[in-house]
Amino acid sequence: MKTRREPIVMVTAYDYATARVAERAAVDMVLVGDSGAQVVLGHSSTVQITVEELLVLSAAVRRGTRHAFLVSDLPFGSTELSDEQAIATAVRFVKEAGVDAVKLEGGSPPRLARIRAIVDAGIPVVGHVGLTPQTAVALGGLRAQGRTAESAARLVREALAVQDAGASVLVIEAVPAAVVGAVLPALRIPVIGIGAGAADGQVLVMHDLLGITEGTTAKFVKTYASIGGDMAAGVAVYASEVRSGAFPGVDNHYAATAEAIAAARA
Ligand code: KIV
Ligand code: NA
Repeated sequence: MKTRREPIVMVTAYDYATARVAERAAVDMVLVGDSGAQVVLGHSSTVQITVEELLVLSAAVRRGTRHAFLVSDLPFGSTELSDEQAIATAVRFVKEAGVDAVKLEGGSPPRLARIRAIVDAGIPVVGHVGLTPQTAVALGGLRAQGRTAESAARLVREALAVQDAGASVLVIEAVPAAVVGAVLPALRIPVIGIGAGAADGQVLVMHDLLGITEGTTAKFVKTYASIGGDMAAGVAVYASEVRSGAFPGVDNHYAATAEAIAAARA
């Protein structure tokens, strides 16, 4: 698709229902993001989700995804200790959840070794540089990267290094479009942007783009629907009908034979 200059569409999903939504919309790639820690598990950051939890979500998404290329994040703490730990974690996502590739944050030398190790084990890797939420505290918070000379140079260095380490795709998050534009010509692998301007493709969190997420979202999010409001309104109508007796109505009952009714009364 990159060669044909066809924009690549990627979206997150966290269960069977959202996977079906992504599939019906004919997206190209589905990401089971560790953003599920926040949007489906209610945690305050992505670091809290466990391998076991993300495996459950990934397996459900796999069951709903037939055509799209399926990627799962590797949670914080599941790759940091050693290349062996990283391979073992990636293998679990392939064997137990059936994902096509795994995504790993960062471009420092130890992270590059992990990418190489997983790729050598035969599992495609998606890299992720720029704003890397798993290590946001070390970056000084959830803030755009590549805005100073030092940070822009680091972004370019890490993007190229992740490619050289064998990643098949690279996600760049929250980096000025002009900085991403400067490194794009040097990247043969597809670059999926999020808050990174035009790239080979885009990714957004499903719950953000559908308006399910409550409160403020990042500057780079565009909201295409207001599903959270529709869901709350639907449940509110149901609640008021239960309270008024309007539900259940005649259409929502089962019929019984006269004999069954007589027997029940006897
Ligand atoms: O977890 C996630 O949703 C992500 C994307 C936003 C890239 O990593
Ligand atoms: Na993520």
